[in-house]
Amino acid sequence: MATAELTGKHLVLGMTGGIACYKIAELTRLLTKAGATVQVAMTEAATQFITPVTMQALSGRPVYTSQWDARIPNNMAHIDLSREADAIVIAPASTDFLAKLAHGIADDLLSTLCVARDCPLLVVPAMNRQMWMNPATQRNVAQLRADGIEVLGPDSGAQACGEVGDGRMLEPEATYEAIASFFQPKILAGRRVLLTAGPTFEPLDPVRGITNRSSGKMGFALARAAQQAGADVHLVAGPVALDTPWGVLREDVQTAQQMHDAVMRAVPDYDIFIGVAAVADWRVDQVSDHKIKKTADKALPTFTFVENPDILASVAKLPHPPFCVGFAAESGNLEVHGEEKRVRKSVPLLIGNLGPQTFGLDDNEVILFEAKGATRLPRADKQTLAHALIAEIARRLPDASLIS
Ligand code: CTP
Repeated sequence: MATAELTGKHLVLGMTGGIACYKIAELTRLLTKAGATVQVAMTEAATQFITPVTMQALSGRPVYTSQWDARIPNNMAHIDLSREADAIVIAPASTDFLAKLAHGIADDLLSTLCVARDCPLLVVPAMNRQMWMNPATQRNVAQLRADGIEVLGPDSGAQACGEVGDGRMLEPEATYEAIASFFQPKILAGRRVLLTAGPTFEPLDPVRGITNRSSGKMGFALARAAQQAGADVHLVAGPVALDTPWGVLREDVQTAQQMHDAVMRAVPDYDIFIGVAAVADWRVDQVSDHKIKKTADKALPTFTFVENPDILASVAKLPHPPFCVGFAAESGNLEVHGEEKRVRKSVPLLIGNLGPQTFGLDDNEVILFEAKGATRLPRADKQTLAHALIAEIARRLPDASLIS
């Protein structure tokens, strides 16, 4: 999650009856932490699972449960609450509530609010697998989609009732990701983006190896931003301790050669390639098949290195290359080395990190190098910067004018 990425967004969070109500406590915390204001409205059934007091404490606002609530001066809670919202999110959305929505039934505050809305509606279903698979539920969900309502999930797995299958609510983090994604402009809709991220690990023997301090944060943030911009995203990741961004296809590799092979296999299907990984330039020629031991005569081990393939340059050299974007971390003189590296790798755009000291940090500052010159972007946290970079890349695509 980027700091404050939902600042200025006002959400009505509608809760209906279901055991998944407990997940909404955490979801509310994630939404408010990201800067959103959250107005909770609960059905009578939802209050059986979690109290309005809990939801009020977490959202920092009084909770509405009845359409006869006298706190709204004009007594029109169903109109007033939805008019202020950038979106209504129904989570958990019960079988019954989906059916009501599909038929335009307005018999309590929350359902009336949905029918009276003039903002987008997102529903996060949560129910037993038989209830989800029931033809009536499936019909209702198809109708909701046809009506332009976003259906997030459901997930699959163990259910509160002890059964296993489709229908359980997305986890709070995944629900948060889907909501955050909803608000991003779809500037890469229909595009396919392949990225590399993180360090590589070049073994010396079965227990030792050479790696670098890349955390993978920038590459993962870019993968998340590309996914949120509507692209299909494939992330080839070196060894990092980061969660896979929601909706991103991740392939884990260790060595530069494995990263190269994974990229070259996938690249024909992609129209944008972003090389963010800090790829090791060299590997040892002969990896020892046993742990290298100290010897009695204290002789130091020696290694012969060979050069690793340059993944970015190999992709850029293809007969029909995707739009290629490189990254560069230099320890000095970025203005000169950045442009020189862009030309050497034959890529239209190279993003220069202002100093390798950004490795592992949450903030970054970059310069964009391209044939027409260099542009500096303001310092920002890596996720905010990732959204800005995705916008810069989208603008530079050869057929960018085809994208709305
Ligand atoms: N890169 C790559 N394969 C390599 C080395 C680098 O794909 N074997 C990519 C990186 O992912 C990055 C860009 O090339 O997008 C620049 O990486 P960098 O390490 O800065 O450049 P090098 O070519 O290794 O140059 P040098 O280390 O000499 O500065």
